Amino acid sequence: MRVRVKAAAVNFPDVLIVADQYQLKVPLPFVPGSEFAGEVTEVAEGVTGVAPGERVFGSTLVGAFAEEVVASAGAMTRSPASVDDRTAAAFGVAHRTAYHVLKSVAWLQPGEDLVVLGAGGGVGLAAVQLGDLLGARVVAVASSSEKLEVAKSLGAALGVNHRERDLREALRELLPEGADVVVDPVGGRLSEPSLRSLCWGGRFVTVGYASGEIPKIPLNLVLLKGVHVLGFQFRDFAAHAPEDLRRNEEELIKLLAERRVLPYIGAAYPLGETSVALRHVADGKAVGKVLIEP
Ligand SMILES: NC(=O)c1ccc[n+]([C@@H]2O[C@H](COP(=O)([O-])OP(=O)(O)OC[C@H]3O[C@@H](n4cnc5c(N)ncnc54)[C@H](OP(=O)(O)O)[C@@H]3O)[C@@H](O)[C@H]2O)c1
Repeated sequence: MRVRVKAAAVNFPDVLIVADQYQLKVPLPFVPGSEFAGEVTEVAEGVTGVAPGERVFGSTLVGAFAEEVVASAGAMTRSPASVDDRTAAAFGVAHRTAYHVLKSVAWLQPGEDLVVLGAGGGVGLAAVQLGDLLGARVVAVASSSEKLEVAKSLGAALGVNHRERDLREALRELLPEGADVVVDPVGGRLSEPSLRSLCWGGRFVTVGYASGEIPKIPLNLVLLKGVHVLGFQFRDFAAHAPEDLRRNEEELIKLLAERRVLPYIGAAYPLGETSVALRHVADGKAVGKVLIEP
């Protein structure tokens, strides 16, 4: 379908694709942008269930930082009438990732202690919101007081600024019994101290490496603590767990439609300043989601 883009949102992989550091290569020249919301202007032959004039949101590999995008109808969802296009554009990738991770990979239970790294970023902030909604006590870990304030306003009970405090010490102090779950979209030097903070039988989920560094964890830590190290990658999850995917996404769209979970939009840029928006995300400065508005 062809969609008139009303708002698009930046995701960390957009930065990697532009830098040619992503796992999938895109032939040049291309228009970046993987997540958007807008109005359907045209559908291809054989596409049923959606018509021009309807509002949709969804994702694609590239092409969304534009006035119009052509994307696969299967990757689109009808936007609930209760949310505007900015909200719909900012909701997709981060919240879907966080929800699948918490529900189907970490098996987060009410009353558990959840540590979220990168808690001011897109995936991290979504994990904070959804972890709180699922009944966990959330400890947000981020690099600035501004990010931690936002995380607390969206459901984090506790926060650690890892630039100001030794993470291992801080987590030991806050969670003397150990954390039940760690969600890690950052990697690098924060992963090992967070894994060490787990209680016996705790779950560590690796989601991404925004720090630019893939950590190497000594395997004896896993043995000594009896923890589970798990991974999540969207397209493999979709391929291997279609039932979980369908059920989780139905639950999530309901939460959005009822406005029980709304994305935090930290900044918005006009289309002409897309490179500034990408730089903002690349530098780890974004709080929540960053929008591009054609
Ligand atoms: N597995 C999947 O299917 C999946 C799906 C979506 C995203 N991801 C991955 O998850 C990661 C996070 O994505 P996101 O959209 O949440 O990104 P984001 O909004 O940019 O947040 C990333 C966070 O990483 C931290 N960070 C540390 N060093 C950084 C650096 N050098 N540059 C940038 N950020 C740095 C920052 O937190 P601090 O406050 O601690 O500095 C930042 O808030 C990315 O690696 C992305 O590719 C994976």
